[in-house]
Amino acid sequence: MYKSEKLANSLKLLIQSGTWKPHEKLPSLRSQCKNSGFSLITVMNAYHELEAQGLIYSKEKSGYFVADRKTFSTTHSFDTNQKIEINSIVFHYLKSIQGDHIIPLGSAFPNSQLLYSPKLIQILAQLAKRHFSYEQTPSLPPGNIELRKLIAQRYCMQGIQADHDDIVITSGGLDALNLALQAVTQIGDYIILQQTVFYGAWQAAERLGLKVITIPDHPEDGIDLQALEHAIEKYPIKACWFMLNCHNPIGYTVKDKIKEKLAKILYQHNIYLIEDDVYGELYFENKKPLSMKYFDENNLVLHCSSFSKILGADFRIGWVYAGPYSEKIQHIQLMSTLSVNSFIQNALVEYLSHRDYDKHLKKIRASLEKNKIDFYHFLQRILDQNCKVHYFPSGYFLWIELPKELDSIDIYQSLLSKNISIAPSHLFNAHDTKAKNYLRINCSFDLTASYQEALLELSKCINHAIQLYRASK
Ligand SMILES: Cc1ncc(COP(=O)(O)O)c(C=O)c1O
Repeated sequence: MYKSEKLANSLKLLIQSGTWKPHEKLPSLRSQCKNSGFSLITVMNAYHELEAQGLIYSKEKSGYFVADRKTFSTTHSFDTNQKIEINSIVFHYLKSIQGDHIIPLGSAFPNSQLLYSPKLIQILAQLAKRHFSYEQTPSLPPGNIELRKLIAQRYCMQGIQADHDDIVITSGGLDALNLALQAVTQIGDYIILQQTVFYGAWQAAERLGLKVITIPDHPEDGIDLQALEHAIEKYPIKACWFMLNCHNPIGYTVKDKIKEKLAKILYQHNIYLIEDDVYGELYFENKKPLSMKYFDENNLVLHCSSFSKILGADFRIGWVYAGPYSEKIQHIQLMSTLSVNSFIQNALVEYLSHRDYDKHLKKIRASLEKNKIDFYHFLQRILDQNCKVHYFPSGYFLWIELPKELDSIDIYQSLLSKNISIAPSHLFNAHDTKAKNYLRINCSFDLTASYQEALLELSKCINHAIQLYRASK
């Protein structure tokens, strides 16, 4: 632990124990140096840390004061996380929702019935007969050259110049994201995450020993650029990990003009962006949303995506468009996941060259949209009026906001005893206790009688929690 973290922790105890009261003046930087024996820089860093956590505030020419937590709710305060321990929560969650007896409203996998492609199965069968799986060389990093060329062509279709040599094939999207983050950071570096984010980002930060700053979700823009700039001013940020298209779990897609501004901010401060675009094909509007790579003129964006959400978990092949970082990523790959399934890569080469692939994408988008709308209308009818269902025209998740006083972990636990899973917000806000009243529903399924029953159970459970809360008041 750094000296400044130690000092910040001991000062935090004084605040939390009430020894220092709201609005009480803290010792000046100089007298704190004298008292603690630490250097001015260490004391300043400790004070900045406490300020970022919303525990103290500064007044020009007057010094630092203990915050009344209410005062800070209207200003930008950042959640910093020195010690991340999300992996065990995620591990228990994933274990608890497995099994055919569970109605998988909490699952992150789309309905496999929708992803099934007879053409792809036919290609696999033909390849198996041709013994393609015994050709090993193309599976070594950076991966099958034909597949990389096909992926590069798809970038070009969106107006993004891509060279297949800058693309590395990976074992799924999460592998791509992890490799990309590792390539541009070192232990102890600061990174920025969206406040509500896929838990894989927290796990990656935990594994790589990174410090995480989170910026609040913006109600209209998705991402709060003002808060981002504020965070960049305060911390030496090395990289951001953002999901801007078909966001998991909330569902929004950030507008192009915001993406353009974001690219400028990243350029000004020389900050890398690890872009999670794993759901980028699951849009319902006319045009595929642009990736940040489109706005990136300075090779700061490492764009990561995967086939697992459009072809299924058995086709868990991903890629990172890494630009100049392609070679570094291959080096890391050689020390970790090494090769990517060559049989599936070969099958994807044939499938992506076939016009059935685009037809398949069109079909799953239409089915997902229909199912999502059905779930949305059903939930609107049955949920308590104090709940809000957030609908965005992409992906297969609905994000449900419960009354503030409820905790989605309670709903998760009581539904699990009825063999129904949901995803509580705790999975996506690693340490933010303020946002515990949200949950994510997977609505990629047909709204059959059993799904209707499961949603009715969810509604009952929420009503029960509301009644219990009212009775306790
Ligand atoms: C937002 C997000 N990013 C990345 C991944 C990982 O993708 P893959 O399954 O291809 O590794 C997932 C998987 O659920 C996800 O939800």
